[in-house]
Amino acid sequence: MTMHNRDLAIGRSFWLQTGYLRYDTMRDLERRTEPELFLTASPYLGRVSLSLAPVRPLGSVEPLQQVRSGAALTPLERLTTLLYLTLGLVRYEAGSVRPFHRGAPSPRCLYATELYVVPPQGVFRYDPLMHALEQRSEEGMWDVLEQALGITLYGAESVLIVAADVWRIARLYADFAYNIATLEAGHALGQLQVLASRLGYEARIHEHFLDRPVLESLGLNGKVQTPLAVVVLWPQGAVKQERVSCESVPRQPVAADTRFEQEMNQCGDLQKMMEASRLTFAEELPEAEQAQEHLVRTTADFAGSAAGCEADLLDVIKTRNSGNDKIGLSATGRPIPLEQLSGLLQALAAFPDAQGLAREIGLYLSAHRVAGLASGIYRCELSAPDFEAQSLHQDMGLLMEQASVVDGKYINFRSIPAAFYLTVDFERTLHQHGNRGYQIMQMRAGRLTQYLCLLAAARGWYARPLKSYRDAETEALLGLSQTTRTVVYQLVIGESDTPYLEFDMGL
Ligand SMILES: Cc1cc2nc3c(=O)[nH]c(=O)nc-3n(C[C@H](O)[C@H](O)[C@H](O)COP(=O)(O)O)c2cc1C
Repeated sequence: MTMHNRDLAIGRSFWLQTGYLRYDTMRDLERRTEPELFLTASPYLGRVSLSLAPVRPLGSVEPLQQVRSGAALTPLERLTTLLYLTLGLVRYEAGSVRPFHRGAPSPRCLYATELYVVPPQGVFRYDPLMHALEQRSEEGMWDVLEQALGITLYGAESVLIVAADVWRIARLYADFAYNIATLEAGHALGQLQVLASRLGYEARIHEHFLDRPVLESLGLNGKVQTPLAVVVLWPQGAVKQERVSCESVPRQPVAADTRFEQEMNQCGDLQKMMEASRLTFAEELPEAEQAQEHLVRTTADFAGSAAGCEADLLDVIKTRNSGNDKIGLSATGRPIPLEQLSGLLQALAAFPDAQGLAREIGLYLSAHRVAGLASGIYRCELSAPDFEAQSLHQDMGLLMEQASVVDGKYINFRSIPAAFYLTVDFERTLHQHGNRGYQIMQMRAGRLTQYLCLLAAARGWYARPLKSYRDAETEALLGLSQTTRTVVYQLVIGESDTPYLEFDMGL
């Protein structure tokens, strides 16, 4: 039997050749059919409207003060809140060419991430535009999902599947789309994780599953779309996850359409990598999905704790933003205080799965205008939250600008107080997870970055994810040139000077 997942030459070449700049990102595709935002053309049986009642308070964003406010809600109210605040349209920017915003960022608002809901009976897709569930099938699919995951679902409340409609991004970014679609999906997973814990669920994220049964259950066309993670929602304290022992009954696949297939076929490298990341045989599933760390930490765990922040989670989700404005990206130029930045790092370390994620994902801070911290590169330590100086540079703003693909006219790095960089060891990842490791690490980086986005919003800062850095220059800046670590993401934080006028979209 062939396991493409272990043909590491595919993953290695894709990883190294499809950086924003290394690959011909903006390559002109002949066919560029534009997909509709938020809609798909796949047939559905009917639509279930979800409640438009305002979302109930969810407590403060910092987990140190978290409350579980979901207990008083019905299962449908909990699910509605979870879907809306993860993928629904929460904020409107007046006058912007990209006016609709979600709780999580998306490259150019292309919104490739899709959420499918699979309760014990039926299969549904969340439609963010109508705030409704489209029913794709009436059949119960849990036995199929149990085979795909290798565990029993008995006792679970529901299953969510995070998938990507890759053409939405590939239309502009060609083969590079797999990179940003998987980061975007990671943001959605981070958001799900935060919200699930507030709503009284225990969410388990499965990065390993057999792809074909999932594609067939959802009616996805594997050349255009791909499932990226299965999230099982267990009632609090009732996670079971026993190994599955019986077979599933063979099923008619839910019909998939061929829309955008010809368009996607222009992106051969992407399709090859997506295919090579898929798992086919039960032997490819890990014994147990990586035990996710759920450390409950309190402020007392951190000596000399810096200023906390009790911003309301719902407000934070609705105001989280990338600092989009009419000219590009800039900041007020006012330095941000180290005390607030330290508070952010401490709060990040207290997210239940952040320490586990940070074991694989390296986190660096580029400090440019931080009052109390010399301009330079710092390693962010999460086990005992601290910024450890790695190299000091007179003018980090200039160095970040030189390491950017984008002209200084559009991204004013000189005004920017600070940026985070996330790194991954690609050789280690490929050896550990096979080609699947690429999407796994991209999603983990996206999750960690989503927490940073929320914590920045809680302090009144924007947080702009960027892929437009020059890989080699940025790796040199972080001292990674002679290593197998690569920079997977950049997140710029600051205070916006010229934001759009914006509106809460309700709920
Ligand atoms: C994976 C990813 C990559 C992104 N890359 C860039 C980038 O290279 N340059 C940029 O200006 N913005 C980038 N963004 C920011 C998006 O354009 C921004 O999130 C989007 O406009 C939505 O705005 P909002 O986050 O305020 O809702 C990226 C976002 C994501 C999620």
